Amino acid sequence: MKKDSSDTSQIGITAHYTAFTWHKNGLSHPVLTTRPGRALFLVAAPWMWMGRNLLGITDIQTYLIQRHILMDHLMDMAVEKGKPVQVLELACGLSPRGWRFLSRHKNRDARYVETDLPGMAARKEKLLKQAGLLRAGHIMTTLNILALDGPASLEQVCQKHLEPGCLTLVVTEGLINYFPLPVVEKLWQRIASVLKSQGGGLYLADNMTLPQEGLARAVIKPFRSIIEALAGGRTHLHFAADKDAIASLAACGFDTAFVHRPEDWAKPLNLPLCRSQSTTRILEAWVAD
Ligand SMILES: C[S@@+](CC[C@H](N)C(=O)[O-])C[C@H]1O[C@@H](n2cnc3c(N)ncnc32)[C@H](O)[C@@H]1O
Repeated sequence: MKKDSSDTSQIGITAHYTAFTWHKNGLSHPVLTTRPGRALFLVAAPWMWMGRNLLGITDIQTYLIQRHILMDHLMDMAVEKGKPVQVLELACGLSPRGWRFLSRHKNRDARYVETDLPGMAARKEKLLKQAGLLRAGHIMTTLNILALDGPASLEQVCQKHLEPGCLTLVVTEGLINYFPLPVVEKLWQRIASVLKSQGGGLYLADNMTLPQEGLARAVIKPFRSIIEALAGGRTHLHFAADKDAIASLAACGFDTAFVHRPEDWAKPLNLPLCRSQSTTRILEAWVAD
């Protein structure tokens, strides 16, 4: 039977791997780990070790830790602006970020709306509830980034769950490289428009780039093929240069945009680095008040 191209739920398998990686690196809670995540992690571990230690290229584990810690930090910097903060995370998977963010900012008036496709959202809500990790102001709900209307659309979820008078942060992690650029740009336009209607705010995302160095460039091909086989679709490396990412965000309605490289934050955040240049970039895009 032909696969429905609007059903992107198979990408969810990669969320199990990332969840186990967050846990193995002290960034998560055991309740958010799964057997498939553990199995994938163990199978991949020797290859990651070889990539990191023998070839010197940025392996997926290092890449994931770099992006996760840097995004957490940029969110914490936004919280320092003083206003009550609300976060909407799209495609949250089994990421611990919502729980950890609210734990770090429990003395602030912070809210966190985590969203994913129905199966993943229901699974995560059950796990968080069972472990007693769902505190007041922490909401799990369904959102499909491809839905242009209806209760699972970005606009209706925002209308239902976001409050006026807050600094609004929208976050996507490990999402945009699974979709072609026109789909990503359509989503970015909608996020910019939601942030405008909220009186301004911040969008944060990670983006995987094509390595410039020969060996890393050659090795990324088999890595991508494995991820594509697991996720049941193609991966997309969107921008040849950081300035292209900034131009694209500006064209989608963001007023200012910055691109962060792990190398720039390695010292203050104690980020792991490999011998070759990192391939992840964190995009920080603001819609003004
Ligand atoms: C690679 S995982 C990333 C999960 C998490 N953000 C992390 O970094 O650990 C991708 C996530 O995208 C979700 N997803 C796939 N298609 C989606 C869609 N159309 N709308 C919303 N989420 C989607 C999957 O269910 C999965 O949880």
